[in-house]
Amino acid sequence: MKLGILRSFTKDDKYTKSYEEACEELGFEYIVLNILSDNWIEEIRNAGVDGILVRVIGNIPEQKQMFDERLRIICKDLKIPIYPSLDELYLYENKRMYSYWLTAHHYPHAPTHVFYTKKDALDYLRGAEFPLVFKTNSGASSSGVEIVRNKFWARLNVHQIFGMFDPRLSLGKVKLGRIGALRFPKFGMAQKHYVIIQDFIPIKWEWRIIKIGNTYSGHQKLLKGNFASGSDRVGWVDPPKTLLHLVKEICEVGQFDSLAMDVLESLDGKFYINELQSLFGSYLPFQMKINDVPGRYQFVDNDFIFQEGIFHGKGSNLLRVEDFVNKIRNGYYEGKRQLKKE
Ligand SMILES: Nc1ncnc2c1ncn2[C@@H]1O[C@H](COP(=O)(O)OP(=O)(O)O)[C@@H](O)[C@H]1O
Ligand SMILES: [Mg+2]
Repeated sequence: MKLGILRSFTKDDKYTKSYEEACEELGFEYIVLNILSDNWIEEIRNAGVDGILVRVIGNIPEQKQMFDERLRIICKDLKIPIYPSLDELYLYENKRMYSYWLTAHHYPHAPTHVFYTKKDALDYLRGAEFPLVFKTNSGASSSGVEIVRNKFWARLNVHQIFGMFDPRLSLGKVKLGRIGALRFPKFGMAQKHYVIIQDFIPIKWEWRIIKIGNTYSGHQKLLKGNFASGSDRVGWVDPPKTLLHLVKEICEVGQFDSLAMDVLESLDGKFYINELQSLFGSYLPFQMKINDVPGRYQFVDNDFIFQEGIFHGKGSNLLRVEDFVNKIRNGYYEGKRQLKKE
């Protein structure tokens, strides 16, 4: 068994490192491969690996597109299995895709409108009720999310995104970034030519429900102001079993390997799936605590059984590497188009 670990942008190194550490701890041979290399195809083809562990960086659209394109060649043409799977990495950091996928499969989520022309967006706003939630396609910790409370701001957003007179003149909507005390406009991440508008759901909190292999964990992300994402406030409570069943079903339907499903719980107790992320911040080595005891659920004999322990070490990559190796050994990729060529 020899695994590849894909290295990409410098920012990515800590993630590559934690895959390396996970392989070392579990005793698997690995080689680090550079997906940015000019001869990446030859480098990867000649590495002789049984599968490749991937960490995608998704907050700059052109970089995410690079992953979507090159990973597709690795899976479909070089026929090397990757983990997590190609389909779930396509959804990753792609809020438009979350809404399409959830609609296509009839899963509950906040009504979401994606427009590609200024006219369609302005027509929609004419009859819309406020507040509305505007989102960029990628972004974490609520950085790309804005609650818009009136028509004036909503229309201004749309004009910025599509350009005042002609799309070819659009500089896009630019947010401010920060390095220490210095604030600067993030021109490289301007939002242009599409808008995502979601109904505002008044929420109690958000649930993060995780499934990797047969490990299920979950906790609440609590609100700080209007936003749960990035609040760093956690509710360590037993996640509802309906959500554990839901994440299990979604992983079966989408054939997803590793998933953090974020679910908004509304004030009136309804669940709305908000995000489906294959890769996610997992800074604590546990992701669930029940009555102060860290642990996970496992699905055994048709039931979720609690097991005490610390399972999410190395940013959950111990679980990912274990699941990947099991799938390779069990022939999961044989018969799939990902099967390696003789
Ligand atoms: N439709 C919505 N209604 C109300 N609040 C929302 C809605 N969508 C997102 N939020 C709030 O904004 C936060 C960030 O949104 P999210 O889509 O999860 O973006 P991010 O990728 O930044 O986490 C959520 O944690 C939630 O608190
Ligand atoms: Mg989120």
